[in-house]
Amino acid sequence: MGFPDTFLWGASTSAYQVEGANKEDGKGLSVQDVKKVPEGTSQVDVCADEYHRYKEDIALYAKMGFKAYRFSVSWCRILPDGKGTINQKGIDHYKDVIDECLKYNIEPIVSMFHFDMPYELEKLGGWNNRESIDWFYEYARILFENYGPKVKYWATIVEQNTLALAGSVIFDKKEETIKEKYIANHNMLVAQAKVIKLCHDMCPHAMIGSDPNIAYVYPATCNPDDIIAAQKFNAIRNWLYLDLAVYGKYNAIVLGYLKEQDALFDICDEDYEILRNGKPDYIGLNYYNTATAKVYEGKEKVIQKDQQNGMREEGLYESVYNPYLYKSEFGWEIDPIGFRVTIHELESRYHLPILVTENGIGGYDTLEDGCVHDSYRIEYYRKHIEQMKLAVEEGCNVIGYLPWSAIDLLSTHNGISKRYGFIYVDRDEFDLRTMDRICKDSFYWYKKVIETNGEDLS
Ligand code: BG6
Repeated sequence: MGFPDTFLWGASTSAYQVEGANKEDGKGLSVQDVKKVPEGTSQVDVCADEYHRYKEDIALYAKMGFKAYRFSVSWCRILPDGKGTINQKGIDHYKDVIDECLKYNIEPIVSMFHFDMPYELEKLGGWNNRESIDWFYEYARILFENYGPKVKYWATIVEQNTLALAGSVIFDKKEETIKEKYIANHNMLVAQAKVIKLCHDMCPHAMIGSDPNIAYVYPATCNPDDIIAAQKFNAIRNWLYLDLAVYGKYNAIVLGYLKEQDALFDICDEDYEILRNGKPDYIGLNYYNTATAKVYEGKEKVIQKDQQNGMREEGLYESVYNPYLYKSEFGWEIDPIGFRVTIHELESRYHLPILVTENGIGGYDTLEDGCVHDSYRIEYYRKHIEQMKLAVEEGCNVIGYLPWSAIDLLSTHNGISKRYGFIYVDRDEFDLRTMDRICKDSFYWYKKVIETNGEDLS
């Protein structure tokens, strides 16, 4: 009973949200570096300054007892233009980060792409350009060649579904038709499958997966129309990505949807072949909350604020608040039981190991006499870990837990003010203060959780 001894406890970050140094040591610009940041939030030039302070930060992760640390590589630190000339300083930087993790017996879990397409490639159409498959393949080859011998866990594209469904709230994406959106999505899936196959060939000792943002969709009522709405939303938001990654097949509901929207495009047999040959070894689960849907007959356009809230499509579904759940300070619903529901669903649909690659709560933390009392975060994690433990005891193969985030970093919409870390960074939106690291109450709590392999959650 309980978690296996090999369970990978740790946490996650992403390059453009934590590193800073966005124009240093030969790094090229990504779409994140050129976007118009939301009003009142800082630029991505400093973030938590992990680029310069990774040794200090990894030492703190080791002190917390991490068995694994999931971070992303910035594509344009390795290839400033996204393709062509390699930046040796970028290669060396991540070599050092990996070695620093290994020094403390922390498994580096390396994500290749987290929302930061090189700007030079975005100008060529980004994922909409079929050549993106080759660009990503070559970038991945360079990563496997340089880091392959030392890395046991790789992740391809983080939250591809967020990019497809809410890309315009993640960076300044040009307006797309539904068809264009799904062509870009298809290119990402083919690229991912090719890279998975390449990883299996070049790094046979490693496991590789993809990390979608899965929010299991409940029907708002037991009205059969709402059930259908929830099934459609589930297919479009969640299953499409995993059905293609794991089974190499388009979800039938999604194909029907694309047909209705006049957004079907040609898919060649070769793509299906590639998809079938690039099956992930695990499913990375980014879980923040569930969604709830009812049928939507209206015609109003979606006003989508972020990746978790406010989706609707005419005649299909509308995302609504769930009256049984409470919300975070930033309006995100909190649903620990939904975490277990989602794990059950992934287990029974895909029969692959599940690595929880993100889960967490953002809030306004304050420094009081040198301490940060983030009891709300401890409460959030306690309830989620309890449910994950039940899922494991019910037979689900969960192999690790890497909550978001290891340290305070820039949120996608609310800058540094919406804090997620176990470690507080002493800065605010525009005043960089000392940038000192301060362990929050949740740091000490999580250390005890890891020490006891999830037994002591008090
Ligand atoms: C996930 C993303 O969807 O949500 C992270 O992978 C992001 O990049 C996290 O930071 C929390 O969202 P937000 O908008 O509060 O930063």
